[in-house]
Amino acid sequence: MARLLITGGAGFIGSHTCVVLLQAGHELVVIDNFHNSCPEACRRVERLTGRTLVLEQADVRDGPRLNSVFDRHGRFDGVIHFAGLKAVGESVKEPLLYWHVNVCGSRTLLQAMAAHGCRTLVFSSSATLYGNPDSNPIAETAPIRPVNPYGQSKAAVERMSRDVAESQPGCKGWRLACLRYFNPVGAHPSGEIGEAPQGIPDNLFPFISQVAMGERSSLDVFGGDWPTPDGSGVRDYIHVMDLAAGHCVTLEHLLDGQPQLLTLNLGSGCGTSVLQALAAFERVVGRSIPHRIVARRPGDVAMTVADPGRAAAVLGWQTERTLAEMCADGWHWQQRNPLGFG
Ligand code: UFG
Repeated sequence: MARLLITGGAGFIGSHTCVVLLQAGHELVVIDNFHNSCPEACRRVERLTGRTLVLEQADVRDGPRLNSVFDRHGRFDGVIHFAGLKAVGESVKEPLLYWHVNVCGSRTLLQAMAAHGCRTLVFSSSATLYGNPDSNPIAETAPIRPVNPYGQSKAAVERMSRDVAESQPGCKGWRLACLRYFNPVGAHPSGEIGEAPQGIPDNLFPFISQVAMGERSSLDVFGGDWPTPDGSGVRDYIHVMDLAAGHCVTLEHLLDGQPQLLTLNLGSGCGTSVLQALAAFERVVGRSIPHRIVARRPGDVAMTVADPGRAAAVLGWQTERTLAEMCADGWHWQQRNPLGFG
């Protein structure tokens, strides 16, 4: 059992990870500023697991507040850092905001950790930092070439983590992991927690769900002329519960191991096109979902698929849930919670 601080634990990936961590017996203090999340997610995590967690409103940019969290809750064995902004389009319009929240927030957190003798951190990175890859599947050794400020901010925090880890021989006692997520989708199979985007969803699965619910009239498929088998964009979708399990095993691996910096892809290794994802969703819903093929979305790439071999070798972790389960669980959540947590 470990005592853990979870930043952004009320958000989509954070809340699912809290379920897995509580079920594994860990004790959690969650901080969140509720910018894109709400406390109800954590209440539902408690109901689902039959366990309690401590939840506090706090912003990772607020150093005195972070220090007070560390002071009041005693020693943490480790931190999982989800808190941050994640909308690619918004990051292009508001780059300074992304650098402030994602980069300065991470720096403030690392500083508070160092001041309190906590040197184990799992960081939410992203496959977005590979940009337009030279080839697929993408290994962790591929060049880092982010094409938007969101990706730049993730690359900067990875760089900062490396500097911290290398700041003295022997990693100065730091145990750090940067987890590069591919495309997380789906929801907890109970339908109690899931993704609750505000406004018009940017991402494919929430958009398909809302069209299937009749909240939106049609899905725009961005591009039918990509150099892919059916012309639509290919991604590596990963069930959020598999991703959550990946965090739990990473954290336990770090706590059991030597000081180190670990960089891992978390993906399935399988590519799915937009049209294949849509067809899978239609099979779950039992009817066709209106869509039309439109121009490519600026900034998109044809294909990103993970090489998940390192995570399998180091952690013994691999994805278990299928595309059909991603669709079924996401649809279940959407039907039970048409207004999200509100
Ligand atoms: N797409 C559509 N229509 C939509 C939305 C998306 O056709 O309405 C297509 C996109 O063009 C792309 C695929 O669906 O081919 C997936 O798009 P998403 O917006 O769901 O996801 P992205 O791959 O663009 O990016 C996501 C997250 C990033 C993260 C990245 C990791 O938004 O934050 O995955 O690979 F970094």
